[in-house]
Amino acid sequence: MDSFQEALSFRHACKEFDGRKIGEEDLISILEAGRLSPSSFGMEPWRFLVIEDPEVKADLRPLCWDQKQITSCSHLIVIKNQIALVQEEDYIERVFRRRGLDEERTRAYIERYKSFLKGQNIPEWTAKQCYIALESMLLAAAFRKIDSCPIEGFEREKVEEYLGLDRKREGVAVIATFGYRKNPQPPKRRFSLAELVERI
Ligand SMILES: Cc1cc2nc3c(=O)[nH]c(=O)nc-3n(C[C@H](O)[C@H](O)[C@H](O)COP(=O)(O)O)c2cc1C
Repeated sequence: MDSFQEALSFRHACKEFDGRKIGEEDLISILEAGRLSPSSFGMEPWRFLVIEDPEVKADLRPLCWDQKQITSCSHLIVIKNQIALVQEEDYIERVFRRRGLDEERTRAYIERYKSFLKGQNIPEWTAKQCYIALESMLLAAAFRKIDSCPIEGFEREKVEEYLGLDRKREGVAVIATFGYRKNPQPPKRRFSLAELVERI
């Protein structure tokens, strides 16, 4: 098995962590994996909120279906989708200008982006990108033998309110928890490629 496949097999939805802390270098490498993820038009419509404070975790747990991962993990990363930022002129300019294209192509690209955006449900579109960053982070962790569990089981409005988010500007797309497994990994349950793949 190559190391990528090993990481794929190692990663599972860890239901309870053993309380050990992740080192700072490992945490940064997980965040880097999020940062380097692809995003539509390169908009990086995510911001990462790292939570380590046990009191904050304890407050969040009842808002997250009382899941053990929330309080037993070493770190939670809340991936916030950026609803307002991706529509702001200054930000759009920053994103497109850094490509170093000439003025005409830059303007054309920006116009294409703006017309694309008009057809989007922006909270949904930005949240979709956040899930790409999520998977990068889960796999980066698995590469380092760090366990994780993605968390969609939470009351969005309550979590956003607790974290003091301005909901017109940003939302909680998804949460990821990281740490070290308490219990052995269960067997993988997946459909076979024969059931999942069609070829033409
Ligand atoms: C976006 C997303 C959200 C999830 N939310 C939760 C969750 O709130 N609680 C949980 O225990 N597992 C959660 N899971 C884990 C899935 O249940 C799990 O990935 C799936 O059953 C496959 O099992 P495996 O990841 O162990 O291979 C989530 C997975 C994804 C991708």
